Amino acid sequence: MSTEVAEGSVRHLDHSGLHLARPDGSTVTVPLLALRDRCDCASCSHPSGQRLLDPAAFPTDLAATVVAVDDGFLRLHWTPEGHHSTYALAELLADPPAADDVLPWDAGAADRLAVGDHQQITADGEAGSRALLDWLRGVAAMGCGVLTGVPTLDGEVARVAELFGFVRETNYGRWFDVWAQADPTNLANTSLGLPPHTDNPYRDPVPTMQLLHCHQSSAAGGDNVLVDGFRVAAELRTLDPDGFAQLAGRAVSFAYRDAGASLTTTAPIIDLDVAGNVRGVRFNHRSLQQLPLPTNPAESEQLSVWYRGYTHFARLVADPRFHLFVHLRPGDLFIVDNRRVLHGRTAYEAGGGSRHLQGCYADVDGLRSTIAVLQHRLDAAADDR
Ligand code: FE2
Repeated sequence: MSTEVAEGSVRHLDHSGLHLARPDGSTVTVPLLALRDRCDCASCSHPSGQRLLDPAAFPTDLAATVVAVDDGFLRLHWTPEGHHSTYALAELLADPPAADDVLPWDAGAADRLAVGDHQQITADGEAGSRALLDWLRGVAAMGCGVLTGVPTLDGEVARVAELFGFVRETNYGRWFDVWAQADPTNLANTSLGLPPHTDNPYRDPVPTMQLLHCHQSSAAGGDNVLVDGFRVAAELRTLDPDGFAQLAGRAVSFAYRDAGASLTTTAPIIDLDVAGNVRGVRFNHRSLQQLPLPTNPAESEQLSVWYRGYTHFARLVADPRFHLFVHLRPGDLFIVDNRRVLHGRTAYEAGGGSRHLQGCYADVDGLRSTIAVLQHRLDAAADDR
């Protein structure tokens, strides 16, 4: 099978696929299966946008012939199915969408922090939608944000999570209190300072968003600090590539236990995507379990490099160059992407006043979905005018 087509960007079609000339003069081959799978005719694609094709049903002897190339469209006839498909050439030649830019930040980023106003983002109509969209966009870009003027009502933090998504209920409840307790099972409920960390690394999957809402803050100290884990990981990658590789390449265990829960999971400190970019960090020494001791020289060397990388990472997390301080007053709330942004607090004087926060977990897919839906609605409203 080979069909010569001289018109425009379509060069020819053969058993390996459709050969196209790209605008930059290069040529590229779109494999037949990829082309067949792109058919969006009414029998291949449902009006909902979901696909009706079954990849198991694609013939192993799939072949195609060109019916026509005209008006910017390519029409193919598939055998042995006897199916017809039409493709817009511009779509076949389009560049893939660019990935969202991730802009790492450090201590100098205070003026970029997304600060929303609760009354504005919950207002009715377009103004409220616009304010909510702007705040959520800022949160997505930096992996954190602040909301002011949140009523200090029990569980209000969960209602804020519901403005963009769904509460992730855990063994700590739908929402939980953070305050100094007499007999705590979690260091969060002491007046001790907490070095910046990600929450609940012992869960699978970890909650991807965390919210903390301040109800009372008359105790001296207890300021919150945020750290961009992507920025710190990038620094480590430059300063100690082997240590970085160990943190990304070795799974370690985290655990939390109390009378009603026994949670444990295994994952690397630094999570990389398939392109090698940092996708998340999991850093919380309170719940890190002991690593197995080496049984041979190679394991000994690996453990040594892992610890060098881990302690280096911890020193970078503790470095004020990367600290963004957030002083929460009653009614203020901060939100973090718990895979990216670490949060901590300075110690406070438990006897010299009170400090009470309420927290809850949610997930980033809801946040992204709400951004897309709000944008779509606002665009549609603008088109109607
Ligand atoms: Fe925490």
